[in-house]
Amino acid sequence: MAFRNIRYEGDAVLRKKSRPVPEVTKGVRTLLDDMAETMYRAKGVGLAAPQVGILKRVVVIDVGDGLMELINPEIIETRGADIQEEACLSLPNKSAYVERPEYVKVKAKNRDFEDVEYEGEGLLARAFCHEIDHLDGILYIDKKIDEEDLIFEEEDD
Ligand code: NI
Repeated sequence: MAFRNIRYEGDAVLRKKSRPVPEVTKGVRTLLDDMAETMYRAKGVGLAAPQVGILKRVVVIDVGDGLMELINPEIIETRGADIQEEACLSLPNKSAYVERPEYVKVKAKNRDFEDVEYEGEGLLARAFCHEIDHLDGILYIDKKIDEEDLIFEEEDD
């Protein structure tokens, strides 16, 4: 496995649309391995291929429950809404509030190119949305909620 350089905000590759992966080649397996290594070394919870300069629809996620590898991921169901602070390895030392679904179901292919489905709530649901957005050239800052527009519910005594 090898660390790959992370592309930062301003790099045009982050704004391009990634292509579906037609089959899993040795190159795709190496990409998955390298992306996992890069995500762990950078202490992220997710990484999308364009963030290492590769315009393929490949994502890795680990929110603390183990590594998930998703090829050609698509969101097939969402429920609810959740506003939380979000960050991205391509925008170091920044964060902003973003509204995401509370629950997300995703279909994808695994590294054996078999159909898989995953569902997640909270942080995992957010990671699915954030990483899949990367595959369409979308960054979380495109969806951020201005702090002055945030309304926090007052806690009852
Ligand atoms: Ni990101």
